[in-house]
Amino acid sequence: MIKKETIDRIMDATRIEEVVGEFVSLKKRGANHIGCCPFHNEKTPSFYVSPSKGIFKCFGCGKSGNAVGFLMDHEHYSYPEALHWLADKYHITIEEEQLTDEQKEKQTERDGLFHVSEFAQKYFADLLYNNEMGRAIGLSYFHQRGMSDEIIKSFGLGYCLDEWDNFTKHARQQGYSDAVLEKTGLTIFKEEGRCFDRFKGRVMFPIYSISGRVLGFSGRTLSKEKQVAKYVNSPDSEIYDKSHTLYGLFQARNAISRADKCYLVEGNVDVVSMHQSGVCNTVASCGTSLTVEQIRLIKRYTPNVTVLYDGDSAGIKAALRAVGLLFEEGMHVRVVLFPDGEDPDSYAQKYGSTQLQEYLRDHEENFVNFKTRVLLEDIEHDPIRKAEVLKEMVRTIALVPDMIERQEYVKQTAFRLNVSETVLTQELAKAMASNAQKAWKEEQRRNSQQSAPDQPESLPPAEPESAPVVETPAVPENATRNAEPQEQQLVRLLINHGDKEVQQDAVDEAGNPCTIALRVAEIIVDELTSNELSFSNPVYQQIFNLYRDAVQQGTPLPDANYFAMSTNSALRNTALTLMLNPYSVSPLWMQRKNIAVPSPITHLRRELEESILCFKQKKLEQELEKNSFALRSCTDPDDMLILMAQRKQLTQLRQAVCQQLNRVIV
Ligand code: CTP
Ligand code: MN
Repeated sequence: MIKKETIDRIMDATRIEEVVGEFVSLKKRGANHIGCCPFHNEKTPSFYVSPSKGIFKCFGCGKSGNAVGFLMDHEHYSYPEALHWLADKYHITIEEEQLTDEQKEKQTERDGLFHVSEFAQKYFADLLYNNEMGRAIGLSYFHQRGMSDEIIKSFGLGYCLDEWDNFTKHARQQGYSDAVLEKTGLTIFKEEGRCFDRFKGRVMFPIYSISGRVLGFSGRTLSKEKQVAKYVNSPDSEIYDKSHTLYGLFQARNAISRADKCYLVEGNVDVVSMHQSGVCNTVASCGTSLTVEQIRLIKRYTPNVTVLYDGDSAGIKAALRAVGLLFEEGMHVRVVLFPDGEDPDSYAQKYGSTQLQEYLRDHEENFVNFKTRVLLEDIEHDPIRKAEVLKEMVRTIALVPDMIERQEYVKQTAFRLNVSETVLTQELAKAMASNAQKAWKEEQRRNSQQSAPDQPESLPPAEPESAPVVETPAVPENATRNAEPQEQQLVRLLINHGDKEVQQDAVDEAGNPCTIALRVAEIIVDELTSNELSFSNPVYQQIFNLYRDAVQQGTPLPDANYFAMSTNSALRNTALTLMLNPYSVSPLWMQRKNIAVPSPITHLRRELEESILCFKQKKLEQELEKNSFALRSCTDPDDMLILMAQRKQLTQLRQAVCQQLNRVIV
């Protein structure tokens, strides 16, 4: 836990243009810096950095955020990692929060596990080059499997000597406790204090976290005996959770996001081999079947996964299972099957890296095609089983969220199954409707479960509405949509000037006229809540609600960092866009219209008044429009009277607002 004050100091010291400038070449243009967006491919720059607001925004792909967000998106750092990076750059010492005794114990335990794992990795890697047995056995094994020294080093590979407790002895000498040795599984303790190295006599593959910390190991035996387990893995611990870890992700993550694609293989050696062959966007699940958490790790970098499998029938069955899961998680899944008995490593060793890359390119197949082909293979011409395959494929395609992609799959599958696209589309529509219904029911069930405990046993019946309610038919959409400029203008003021004070006319306690200073946000919140006005644009309404809550609760108003760090991308993008275009009325326009350019403060007061009035006027017009729409279709004389009265009131209000507006504008 980094202290709040430290975070503030880091944020204060951070210059966004310096941070972004380390990764993107920026040119100064006016108050902003611009460059080519690092998140999408472009030739003309549309990537803006605003030093004064501390934010970036790409007008091409829409990515936006502050310096921390930039590091998280571009370098794939976690939030604390990004803060550490900035603290490092600006020479700020990180102060951590005081932890409770229990937290401290947990913390030191975790630290202990991290330290001993790092020590072990260094120890095993060192033996590989600086110990006679290490060189003769470990290093020569890796060389024999075609691994270069460069790749051995970049994966931190090592060797654990073939003695009972060589590693344990060294670790103890260095002061590592038996507790951490046992918890990381590096040492196995037997009764009567006897103990031995878990990885005795094995070559070592360290498993790293995304940011490069050693979490555990996978050790391969050199013995050819069938009874010996080929791989031994670290047990799960406080720092290592197999189901949440991917082998090679630390080394692959930048290549994955650059290629916008991830290759998924079965074994450690395959990962190393693929990297050495220049296919660096490759990872493996750590000796487990693929989990949802591992899929989500990949999804942080790309939605595109290509799964590489052995071409034997066990491999194919496994592929269908694992890949189905990927598919359900909304990934774009492709499959490459290797020839029977080959894995990516053996293929690369046999044919070399160019041929491997060609094989990958030429044998890639989308999941739907792959599945249809596999299911069709063993049914021959049995029409009943063909109908089953069709049903199964429809179920699969129904999971695809994208309509165009779905249509493409329908086309391909119809072709392969030799049925008409229309038949398939009809089946698909049925399957999707039934999925939607299931999802809806599920949601109903969950909602009722959630709200049930809060409900008192006997709820009093709801008060009947006292005022007569006129059923108003739905109003054509354009009426609400065209309030956009007025709504945007108010939100723009809130975001850019919410905390500035303007003088307002008021009356003091004795009833004498006076002026008081109020913040822009307070004025807008007061005007809208007291007149019960709201925004048609839901994102604007969300932003307004944030300011309203802050004003009403007396907490600080949301600022650039708040929006930049928001995980709600619609909210973040809208707010940051309005921040980078803070002015709606240009001074030039005012000059042309012969309006003297006022000082910023009087300008703000005037702009505020005008914006609120324009907003009100628009809302009244919308109400009037709704009213005439209702009147036109109204047949009941009583309803008609109510609507007429409403109309009169609205017209009067609008007139008043127009008069005020004239006074302000002229
Ligand atoms: N694995 C495991 N325990 C085993 C066998 C396999 O954890 N007893 C895991 C390892 O992560 C291994 C992967 O499954 O990398 C694939 O196993 P396998 O295909 O048998 O090994 P290869 O990767 O081909 O290993 P090698 O090339 O070294 O023979
Ligand atoms: Mn292999």
